[in-house]
Amino acid sequence: MRNNLRGKDFLAFKDLNREEIEFLTDLSLDFKKKFVSREPHRYFEDQVWAALFEKNSTRTRNAFQRAAADLGIEVVYLRPDELQMSRGEPLKDTARILDRYFDGLFIRTFGHEIVEECSDWMRIPVINGLTSLAHPTQGIADLMTIKEKKGRLNNLKICYVGNIYNVAYTTMIFAATFGMDLSIVVPEGLEADPMIVEETKRRAELSGAKIEFTQDFDAGLKDADIVYGMSQYSMGQSEEEIERLKQAFKPYLIDAEAMSKAKKDAIFMHCLPAYRDLEVTDEVMESEQSVIFDQGENRMHSIKAIIAAYAN
Ligand code: CP
Repeated sequence: MRNNLRGKDFLAFKDLNREEIEFLTDLSLDFKKKFVSREPHRYFEDQVWAALFEKNSTRTRNAFQRAAADLGIEVVYLRPDELQMSRGEPLKDTARILDRYFDGLFIRTFGHEIVEECSDWMRIPVINGLTSLAHPTQGIADLMTIKEKKGRLNNLKICYVGNIYNVAYTTMIFAATFGMDLSIVVPEGLEADPMIVEETKRRAELSGAKIEFTQDFDAGLKDADIVYGMSQYSMGQSEEEIERLKQAFKPYLIDAEAMSKAKKDAIFMHCLPAYRDLEVTDEVMESEQSVIFDQGENRMHSIKAIIAAYAN
């Protein structure tokens, strides 16, 4: 595929077609090769990007900084508490000002409408580093990892265990796009965003993917090639809600016994950070089946590919 993404915004997988997602995945694998063989790839001169993180980050922020440095792009980190936004300046004003100073914006924030508003007001590329509805840079790293470990993106089954927000939505869209079966194991009462469910259905009809929500952990694990653990409560819930979720997810701890119910050669993935022994046991995290650190490393290669594809 020729790169038709230059100058556009990278907000969510729902906005991308199969070819575009695959292009970014393969480009990420190419950048990994370059990184490993120390082949220089400083493709940009005179670009300065802004990084705005309204939430903490270990992987995404540092992966972005390193990726930008390797590409020759300077990064200015914007602390939200030091911007006038923190005392109420409208986003549309902030966005139009930053648009005049920078060549790209990498943003982690709360509601998805915030990145959409940035996109509306800014001409520079806006890259979503996580919102309530999407974690697309994570999604490209996950697809990269799946391709590395399984050699393909179709004819696979994922058993996803965790709460239903950004990472779940991104996984739903990519599974439906590539024809992977996906069992989302969640306690009763947790509901997915209807717009994402509709888009997932639409794509699954085209690809033949079977996407289901289930409370039956064993059925979800059966024949799974990938067991994907995800945080159960990282979206700023109240103490009371966290306690309720802890109880609700108790039957779904990913331990060695759970892994033994998936395929023999199943891999364990997690976007991290993980709550060890609450979501997944230390034993599984440290096991041969676990690919979490390769997956975490791939955040850097995939973010580099995304910047390279979208930068003007
Ligand atoms: N997976 C992920 O987004 O990690 P960080 O929160 O550390 O960026």
